[in-house]
Amino acid sequence: MDDRVISGHSTQDGEYELKLRPSRLQEYIGQDDLKEKLSIFIQASLARHEALDHVLLYGPPGLGKTTLAHIIANELGVSIRYTSGPAIERPGDLASILTNIDEREVLFIDEIHRLSRSVEEVLYSAMEDFALDLVLGKGPAARSVRLDLPHFTLIGATTRPGLLASPLRDRFGVLLHLDFYQAEELSLIIHRSAKVLGISIESEAANEIARRSRGTPRVANRLLKRIRDYAQVRASGHVTYMIAMEALDLLDVDRYGLDQVDRRLLLSIAERYQGGPVGLETLAAVVGEESGTIEDVVEPYLLQQGFLQRTPRGRVLTLRAYQHLGIPVAPGFFDGPSSDR
Ligand SMILES: Nc1ncnc2c1ncn2[C@@H]1O[C@H](COP(=O)(O)OP(=O)(O)OP(=O)(O)O)[C@@H](O)[C@H]1O
Ligand SMILES: [Mg+2]
Repeated sequence: MDDRVISGHSTQDGEYELKLRPSRLQEYIGQDDLKEKLSIFIQASLARHEALDHVLLYGPPGLGKTTLAHIIANELGVSIRYTSGPAIERPGDLASILTNIDEREVLFIDEIHRLSRSVEEVLYSAMEDFALDLVLGKGPAARSVRLDLPHFTLIGATTRPGLLASPLRDRFGVLLHLDFYQAEELSLIIHRSAKVLGISIESEAANEIARRSRGTPRVANRLLKRIRDYAQVRASGHVTYMIAMEALDLLDVDRYGLDQVDRRLLLSIAERYQGGPVGLETLAAVVGEESGTIEDVVEPYLLQQGFLQRTPRGRVLTLRAYQHLGIPVAPGFFDGPSSDR
C-alpha cells in the first residue's frame, strides 16, 4: 500500500519531508480558517506568557498535522518533544517524559488514538491539573503521591478522532480539523517544493499535478519528485506540461488522482455488488487491503470527491463513479432510494 505513489502515508521520503516542511505559519499554505484561529491563540498565549492550551490536530494522512505541530512550537519559541501513541508502552514511559519536560514546552504525541488505556489515564491529570499521581510501594504500605508538573502544551495528532475516548478529547482546549486542499493551494505548494528542491517547472505542469494529488500535500510532493525523475531521464530535466502528463500516465494516476487501488475498489463494487451497498470488511477482503487502510487512506478522498457514498447499509457507488469508470450503471440503479446515491 505504501508503495502507491499517491499513498498519503509517509515512507522513505523522510529526509525530503523535513526539507519541504514549512517552519512558520506564514509559509504554511492553505487551511486558512485553521491558521487564523491558531495564530490568535498563539498570540494570546504569548502575550500572557502562558502555555498554549492543548491542541488536537485531526484529519487524513499527509495533510500537514506533524508540520503544524512543529510550526506551533516554532511560533511559541519553545522546543518540541516528539513521541507517538504506540511508542509509549507503559504509564512509566509517559511519566518519565512528563517529568523531564520544561515549562511551556510542546509535547507532540502522534497517532494519539493508539495510546493504551492505562497510559491515557495518566495523561488525564497531567493535561488537566498538570500533576502526576504516582503510587509508591506495594500492598498495605503503598501510598499515592501527587507530583506537580510544569505547564506544558500537549499537541495530539490523529487520523481517527472517532477512536479517541471522550475524556481525552474533552481535555483539548483547541480542536483543529485539517481538510483536503484546493488544487490552487496544492499548486502553490508544488511551486514552493520545486523551488526548495531546485526543480524548474511550468505553471501548467504544477496545476496538473495539483489536480491529481488527491487534495494532499504529501502526494503532491511525491508526484513532483517522481515526475522530476522522469523529466531528468526522458528530457532535459525541465518539467513541462507534456512531460508531466506523460509521467502521470506512466505512474497510472488518472485525471482525478485515482490509481489502480482506487479503481479496483470502485470496479469491484460495480461488478461484484451491483454498485453496493457493501460493508467495509467485505470490501477490504475483495480488494486485498486492510479495512483500516481503506477507511483512513483510500476512502476519505473517494467520499469527498463524490465517487462513493457511505450509507447505513454500507458503501455505494455514485453515478459519477460509473461515469468516471466508463461502465454502464447497474440495473435498478435509478430505482434505489435517492438518498443512497
Ligand atoms: N500547508 C502546507 N504547506 C506546504 N507544505 C505542506 C503543507 N502541509 C503539508 N505539507 C507537506 O506535506 C508533507 C506531509 O505533511 P505532514 O507530515 O505534516 O502530514 P501529516 O498530516 O502529519 O501526515 P500523517 O497523518 O501521515 O502523519 C510535509 O513534508 C510537508 O512538506
Ligand atoms: Mg504526521
